[in-house]
Amino acid sequence: METVIQLAYLAAAALFIVGLRRMQSPATARRGNQLAAGGMLVAVLATLFLDDILSPWMMILGLLIGAGIGAVLARQVEMTAMPELVAVFNGFGGLASALVALAEVAQYTGGSEVLAPDTELGAGTAFTVVLSVLIGMVTCSGSFVAYGKLSGRLGGNPIDFTGMRTATLGLLGGAVFFGGVFVASAGAAAWLTTLSIVILSLSALALGVLLVVPIGGADMPVVVALLNSYSGLAAAATGFVLGNIALIVSGTLVGAAGFILTVIMCEAMNRSLVNVLTGGFGGEEGAAGAAAEAPEGRTVSETSPDDTTILTSYADQVIIVPGYGLAVAQAQHQLREMAELLEERGVTVKYAIHPVAGRMPGHMNVLLAEANVPYDKLFEMEEVNGEFAQTDVALVVGANDVVNPAAREPGNDISGMPILNVDEAETVVVMKRSLSPGYSGVDNELFYADSTKMLFGDAKESADAIVSELKALA
Ligand code: TAP
Repeated sequence: METVIQLAYLAAAALFIVGLRRMQSPATARRGNQLAAGGMLVAVLATLFLDDILSPWMMILGLLIGAGIGAVLARQVEMTAMPELVAVFNGFGGLASALVALAEVAQYTGGSEVLAPDTELGAGTAFTVVLSVLIGMVTCSGSFVAYGKLSGRLGGNPIDFTGMRTATLGLLGGAVFFGGVFVASAGAAAWLTTLSIVILSLSALALGVLLVVPIGGADMPVVVALLNSYSGLAAAATGFVLGNIALIVSGTLVGAAGFILTVIMCEAMNRSLVNVLTGGFGGEEGAAGAAAEAPEGRTVSETSPDDTTILTSYADQVIIVPGYGLAVAQAQHQLREMAELLEERGVTVKYAIHPVAGRMPGHMNVLLAEANVPYDKLFEMEEVNGEFAQTDVALVVGANDVVNPAAREPGNDISGMPILNVDEAETVVVMKRSLSPGYSGVDNELFYADSTKMLFGDAKESADAIVSELKALA
């Protein structure tokens, strides 16, 4: 039986790795996700059925409740709220890892009625319990604070108070001290083991809150990716506590993948991780659609859906640059239809994808895939940036920071961030509702450039109007 379990774990680990590999391309990502989910099911069934931990009915009930809640949440969530959902999943992941490690402790200290008391909690296992509880609890409370900030329930502004850093260091010191007491007392005094692990758990929960509250709302997606990495590390530590290979492999994969993603996001914004974690960058988003006026003496050139239709339909090449506003407007279907109508007229249409466009990694890829935009029309920033100079129209749809030339100048919040060179195109049409800045709060000079035309309005309504005009032209 033991061999069957180990083989099932091996199969699950292989499925995780193949699944992760397939997530490298939008064309195979969906299948990759299904493979990884299948791997998790194999691992869960092997553990529960073969290890005979609980009655099969209890397990099936648990699986149904968990899968049901997950399915409803995933179906209902708005695309723009995806980072919040991931934050909640991470929080529960960290909590689950910590609780499993605590249940293992209860087994040794005689506090568990379900599990038979074992012989002794060795120092090695005790050490991994400390890691699991510390990282798991920090992940749990940190993730729920991140969720609160992303959803606006806590407000996005960085929170700081006098003595905050001292309190954070004090909590970390306390957690390390009681972790040491726990390891030293393991197998000796049960009351001291229990007391130290309870204090460690509470300190870690408070630590998670204090680590995340000083970080601004604009950086929350990066924090969520980092907490995702932590949740993986907590799971891997719990895998060591239980001697469970599948948990060690999957936890390590999540830990590594989450960390790599965090680094990629920081690089795409030209910020260091330390700067993100200590920076207090960005707060609540400006009121959506606030009628930001042009500064005195500056004018913008406005355009209409009719003129944009003429401009694009006589172009050789149009590059569409989607951004967060596309997700807000849910204009992806109209955009795809517009691109198809232009292609029927012989126009080459491409989509330029900036790595941090939107609010989560791959946000634009997911939106466009939902509207069945062919993957071979999507181009990464490095691939497409050289093409804007030979492009007739760059159509910026709800993007702002990722096309803001201020990034090329020193001394502002997005300085050094690589951008899409839309300003090199012959004409730039910007579809957004006002002149208000993007997530970083940095004004965009592009709107005032001679080659730029502003098509004000909700991106879906504007795209709809262009589609009707194109149909009328046909
Ligand atoms: P943003 O700079 O946030 O700009 C989005 C624009 O969309 C806004 O200026 C807004 O202007 C417009 N908009 C909103 N609703 C709209 C609607 N219904 N119709 C048309 N336009 C609408 O977006 P971006 O260019 O995609 O840049 C992303 C930003 O998020 C970057 O600063 C990036 O660093 C940050 N960020 C991204 C990530 C990831 S992983 N993607 C993670 C962390 C941070 P109006 O209000 O005038 O319409």
